[in-house]
Amino acid sequence: MAEEARERDDLQPDREQELEPDHDPSLDTEHDPELDGDEDERPRLDPELEARRRAAMSFIRRFGDPVLKSRATPVDRFDDTLRNQVARMAGIMSDALGVGLAAPQLGISQRVLVYRVGQDAPVIALVNPEVEWSGDDEEPLDEGCLSIPGIEVEVERPIHVRVRAHDEHGDERLVEASGLEARVIQHELDHLNGVLILDRTSKDQRKEAMRTLREREREEPEQAA
Ligand code: NI
Repeated sequence: MAEEARERDDLQPDREQELEPDHDPSLDTEHDPELDGDEDERPRLDPELEARRRAAMSFIRRFGDPVLKSRATPVDRFDDTLRNQVARMAGIMSDALGVGLAAPQLGISQRVLVYRVGQDAPVIALVNPEVEWSGDDEEPLDEGCLSIPGIEVEVERPIHVRVRAHDEHGDERLVEASGLEARVIQHELDHLNGVLILDRTSKDQRKEAMRTLREREREEPEQAA
């Protein structure tokens, strides 16, 4: 992981887009509004969208919940229950303004993820995904996570991956992805293995993120995971 990340952060343009009236902007670092939809980095929403976003966020397990540190179980039945679950995940992801969501984030320890890169792109569901190949070229980029709202840290990941999975109907799906799509898939796949962005960043960034989380927990104990 790149150790120069802290400096880089400081060089990034200010993109403060305040949403949370109870949120202290001084805790922010600036980054690209990446992955999962960081709730503190979004443009101001109209009240209805904001209400939907908050409702969706209330279903999402937060950092500290043991389900987020567990390895999820493979799916063996491609039935209506699975398809309903995928539809529910897609809805919560969209309402939460995320670009990806993994089942453990809803407390369901199953190897299912959904993602959508680009507003008009279809939601893709990957069931039992496996990285079949990943390229040697890696790239550091700031990532957020719906389960760790308000935190972004730099994560280095391969730029190109090929992932084998099934869709929600049980059909095989081979995804060759690059750039943001590859990053989202790898981020969500990490969730299926109990791995979070804090496990993948530098020691310094992890420390700072933990400090921010602790401070927030003190200020808003009811929101602590
Ligand atoms: Ni995440």
